Amino acid sequence: MTWFAGEDLDGFSQRSSLKGMGLSDEAFEGRPIIGIANSFSDYVHCNAHFRALVTHVRRGVEQSGGLALEFPVTSLGEPFMAPTTMLFRNLMAMDVEECVRAYPMDAVVLLGGCDKTIPAMIMGALSADRPAIMVPGGPQLNATFDGADVGTCTDCWLAAESVRAGRSTRADQRRLEDAIIRSAGHCSTMGTASTMASLAEAMGFTLAGAAATPAVDARHARLAERAGRVAVDLAKNGHRPSDFFGQASLTNAMTVLQALGGSTNAVVHLAAIAGRAGLDWDLGTLDRIGRETPWLVNLKPSGRFLMEDFFEAGGVPALLSELRDHLDLSAGTVEGVTLGERLPERGSGRADVIAPVSAPLDPAGAIRVVRGSLAPRGAVIKVTAGTPELYDHTGPAVVFDGPEDLERRLEDPATGIVPESVLILRGLGPVGAPGMPERGHVPIPTHLLRQGVTDMVRISDARMSGTAYGTCVLHVTPEAALGGPLALVKDGDLVRLDVAGGRLDLLIEEEELAARAAAMGPSPRRAGRGYQGLYVRHVLQADQGCDFDFLRRDGEI
Ligand code: FES
Repeated sequence: MTWFAGEDLDGFSQRSSLKGMGLSDEAFEGRPIIGIANSFSDYVHCNAHFRALVTHVRRGVEQSGGLALEFPVTSLGEPFMAPTTMLFRNLMAMDVEECVRAYPMDAVVLLGGCDKTIPAMIMGALSADRPAIMVPGGPQLNATFDGADVGTCTDCWLAAESVRAGRSTRADQRRLEDAIIRSAGHCSTMGTASTMASLAEAMGFTLAGAAATPAVDARHARLAERAGRVAVDLAKNGHRPSDFFGQASLTNAMTVLQALGGSTNAVVHLAAIAGRAGLDWDLGTLDRIGRETPWLVNLKPSGRFLMEDFFEAGGVPALLSELRDHLDLSAGTVEGVTLGERLPERGSGRADVIAPVSAPLDPAGAIRVVRGSLAPRGAVIKVTAGTPELYDHTGPAVVFDGPEDLERRLEDPATGIVPESVLILRGLGPVGAPGMPERGHVPIPTHLLRQGVTDMVRISDARMSGTAYGTCVLHVTPEAALGGPLALVKDGDLVRLDVAGGRLDLLIEEEELAARAAAMGPSPRRAGRGYQGLYVRHVLQADQGCDFDFLRRDGEI
């Protein structure tokens, strides 16, 4: 009404603009306007079906008497963006926030799929705080290859290792390449996209059952249609994210992340989401919840199944039902009911995919936090995807300063890497890279793969793909580029990882560490021009979600 009912020049110009697109007065007069934020792009295969998905949302909006107006937002696709999509997550979040605030809309439907798109949209929607519902794009269909289930992109990493170890050929890898992605939709393992879609559902931003419904399944189209109808309800009742999303929702998300065997990247995104909503966030709480929450979901890379299996097992609603005693069921949802009110009676339909709480895959959850002289503000490790024998390990460091150094020295016998070595890759944190790329899954040298070594302790201030695996300690904070202790490690220094004790330590004397820090001097941020300059100047460390300082709820500068 504010935009289209005025009899002044503004009203004239805004009505005539709609009419210029062929809309009659009847198409918009008195109707709620529902924006549809579409992160479609030809560069993002995970979101390739979004042009069709919009038509289903639009149908739902029209069924309930609204007018749907679609608008494009930044689209972030993992395989094609250089140097890393994470550099642009905050840009997308700003784009979503400002478009939602700037355009006339009574509610917004958010279409996100590939990795960073869902957290970026939630962050933007929280800051704009207009009525909003997320429609996650859904996962790809399951794929098989030579009789085995294969998922993106856990089996890409495995195939690459297999070729390097001499167990398969490049021709085998090319055949896998043809088979592994069968449809539109995001990665089919419990990688970052599946994890963030599941957490979005657990936090109440989506309809129940949305996260695991396959992208190209007719049930996904019907779910999108229903989201369109719900968006019109939201426009009428004014139910905003701040009305249903709170501390209980965030704590539930941490619990679900642990039970999912989910991606370490979700830790960074949840921290950023907490900052946007002005909620308390603490890695210690995540660690405590991890020790108390059973791991239930048997999906790659932690387990063996894929997202279509998770869907058949009942998806997130079934998981939440299994986990009900670990959750705060009074948390709200976009549907205006509590999480408890939309839980199904029955839990898992397939105990091999979603284990019952009475017989979990492990009594503890997926992610642990370690701290110590090497990571004073913490680092994370996904214990469901590593090697338990390495969780209490002391070994000599082999240090790589960035990807070029890694490329140059990893395979060089003179580097002297042995199975007990602790491989450290540094300089790839939020400021150092910049953008904190997914390089923390440092490859195992070929000579060790050929000896049958399958895992080693790896430590980095970078992130790791949610589809990857291994004993990788990630997000070391503070990062090396800002003078964190990771910058002070030298080849041959002993490093101790003690997951049970929650420790990550550099075993050298404090005086020696202080002397090295003094010799290194200060580590200022070196910002260039443009968006990257803005990013380097304002990005927060991993423990605070890598958001910009000025975008947090309390972020006035
Ligand atoms: Fe898009 Fe994995 S590449 S979710």
